[in-house]
Amino acid sequence: MSNFAMELVVKKEVNMLLLILAVALSILSDSVGASEYVRPLPRENLDFSLKPKPSASSPQQVHISLAGDKHMRVSWITDDTYSPSFVEYGTFSGNYEHTAWGESTSYSYLFYSSGKIHHVVIGPLEDLAVYYYRCGGEGPEFQLRTPPSQLPVAFAVAGDMGQTGWTKSTLDHIDQCKYDVHLLPGDLSYADYLQHRWDTFGELVQPLASARPWMVTEGNHEEERIPLLKEGFQSYNARWKMPSEESGSSSNLYYSFEVAGVHVIMLGSYVDYDGYSEQYDWLKADLSKVDRSKTPWLIALFHVPWYNSNYAHQGEGDGMMAAMEPLLYTAGVDIILAGHVHAYERSKRVYKGRPDLCGAIHITIGDGGNREGLAQKYVHFSILNFCVAQLTIFNTQILKYKEPQPKWSVFREASFGHGELKFVNSSHAYWSWHRNDDDEPVKSDEVWISSLVSSGCTVEKELGKTLYNN
Ligand SMILES: [Fe+2]
Repeated sequence: MSNFAMELVVKKEVNMLLLILAVALSILSDSVGASEYVRPLPRENLDFSLKPKPSASSPQQVHISLAGDKHMRVSWITDDTYSPSFVEYGTFSGNYEHTAWGESTSYSYLFYSSGKIHHVVIGPLEDLAVYYYRCGGEGPEFQLRTPPSQLPVAFAVAGDMGQTGWTKSTLDHIDQCKYDVHLLPGDLSYADYLQHRWDTFGELVQPLASARPWMVTEGNHEEERIPLLKEGFQSYNARWKMPSEESGSSSNLYYSFEVAGVHVIMLGSYVDYDGYSEQYDWLKADLSKVDRSKTPWLIALFHVPWYNSNYAHQGEGDGMMAAMEPLLYTAGVDIILAGHVHAYERSKRVYKGRPDLCGAIHITIGDGGNREGLAQKYVHFSILNFCVAQLTIFNTQILKYKEPQPKWSVFREASFGHGELKFVNSSHAYWSWHRNDDDEPVKSDEVWISSLVSSGCTVEKELGKTLYNN
């Protein structure tokens, strides 16, 4: 062998050794990182035995939601079919100055028959006031607080809730924070065709959902479609009536509402969203009504994230993003909250896959605590990390945090938790994410967000209005 050939062989061997060393170091560093925090296993479904009610007309599963300016919808279920659908309410305990009447519905699903589901809109209500109320003329008194009419306003956010021990933990942590409205970007009960689980979920969330409005949009676990037998979203639509009519929508699966200085758009990931769909037309019309002098903040929620570097559900939001991202960008949407992926991730301001100072911040918060557990793996973008990824089959702890992240991704972690979004004034909001793997809320990510109105982006985009006026 010539000297030249020998040199080539040595170089090849050195390169191979360097590659092995790099892989070993990468594994070691990842292992060290992972050892800092060991996540407990997902918890089982809570074992519910529905408590016996004092009577068949006792209100169960009480929850409230915003229903147009200064109004709230009170929803509950009774076992019997003759309980009246009215709510007595007032600002003093036990002294109900007002009575409002509403409507009721029920549904059957295979061998299951629901109770009587009542929906009653109350109001007009004073802003930031405590009201005491009673459902159907009997049962315990409940208490709610209305949101403010002006900033500041605070939202609690958690998606993919389910009804496990972790869900309970998340709810307990939310109960400890000061907030005005709960936002839920899809996947509520994880009933998954077993209808009594909708009832147990309703009971689980009642302490919180009867006191603050819960504004929800649907996820895949709400669909429960059975080909030839059942249309989708039957149980969800019957139980969780949202202000679609109040916001000009013909579907309970997408709507909008305003609270204080925030316009909130709730979209449906499982409803037609292309340029010829009713949802698309409604979105265009809704965006055209937004007055940024009245609501300087514009946010949107839906279930399937558009920006997601987790292996779970990779690319599932691409179709909806292609159809609707230009509309939301042109309108100057500040923040987009999604669920579906059971982990947490926050992006920079981004548009069309690239950081963009006038784009939206995307937050995936599908980590409320459901029984399916956490989404542990993130997408890798280098050959080296691809190689290392193959070695993680036997130890999913290794690669969770150390892979290169996409440029748009700021923070990601596969843990359960909840978010808090406080709009302080017209220019600044504060977002924080609270991990609950510790059984205590641990603030693990936070950021101050400047509004697109204050940065001048919305003025720049005025020209873009032609996009959704066409
Ligand atoms: Fe989902």
